[in-house]
Amino acid sequence: MEQELRDMEQQAKDKISAAENLDQLEKIRVEFLGKKGNLTTILRKMGQLPEDERPKIGKLANEIRDGLESFLKDRQEELKEKELKEKLEKERIDVTLPGKKIEQGQKHPLNKVLDEINEIFLGMGYTIQDGPEIETDYYNFEALNIPKGHPAREMQDSFYFTDEILLRTHTSPIQARTMEKIAPKLPIRIICTGKVYRKDDDATHSPMFHQVEGLVVDEVITMGDLKGTLLNFARQMFGEKQQIRLRPSYFPFTEPSAEVDISCVICEGSGCRICKNTGWLEILGAGMVHPRVFEMSGYDPEKVTGFAFGMGVERIAMLKYGFDDMRVFFANDKRMFRQFI
Ligand code: DAH
Repeated sequence: MEQELRDMEQQAKDKISAAENLDQLEKIRVEFLGKKGNLTTILRKMGQLPEDERPKIGKLANEIRDGLESFLKDRQEELKEKELKEKLEKERIDVTLPGKKIEQGQKHPLNKVLDEINEIFLGMGYTIQDGPEIETDYYNFEALNIPKGHPAREMQDSFYFTDEILLRTHTSPIQARTMEKIAPKLPIRIICTGKVYRKDDDATHSPMFHQVEGLVVDEVITMGDLKGTLLNFARQMFGEKQQIRLRPSYFPFTEPSAEVDISCVICEGSGCRICKNTGWLEILGAGMVHPRVFEMSGYDPEKVTGFAFGMGVERIAMLKYGFDDMRVFFANDKRMFRQFI
């Protein structure tokens, strides 16, 4: 029986050494050391042995089992290593290949300018108001002292849903909307930024563009406040050396009204192609709120005064970034925008 055990041991070792993979090795383990394996089969016959020989054989069987188990384990490690190596050979990764780049987005230059404008006015104590882009004829025109048939409507043709509902042509309706909401309380100090729509389309006019509207109402607001506010804005936006200039103008909802120029950001006032040799660039319209507008919105024009202004954001952004075609903003060419990260 001792011989039988030794033969089995040798046979098992040979097979283990010859195993080529982990699957085969597992089968060998079951064959020799499993519950119904060769070792168990031999040991079943122990009962036939004389009693004094049993301990000796039992001890030998245990030694052989332990020996085989550790032999098997060593071989298992070897094969594992081998299989891993083969796998790595097959699935070789080329670490020199360039990686896949995840493109990083960035703010649209118009939004950057809008953020900057908001920051400047927030810093002056303004709050930000929002208004609808689909607007009624009443707020877009009537409440701003532009009745039906008024020639000022001519310049602001828009996209109409019905006779009374249109895409707003400017952000000024927010003036009437805000005053109606707040009247008769004071003060009002708001700006509103957003999209506006007109029937225009060329290098410096887009059918959709952005405006910033400002409105300040209190007991004693003067043209001097308007001028100081706009000068402060221009200097924060374009630099400390900025000058502004107010030219008399006409808007139905302000009296007096002004076109506001800033000194040319390109030539600093000496005259160039961009400012058409005038040294000045027009950036917004402004004025003192018209008494009729106050009346319609619930304020007594005898008791309050205020100023308002409206500027084109694309115009500001074009000056800031040196674009001479507004359509660049809406062509969405990433190569163009990437310059402003
Ligand atoms: N809403 C005018 C426009 O789009 C701009 C404007 C002019 C706004 C004077 C104002 C203002 O608030 O006081 O042409």
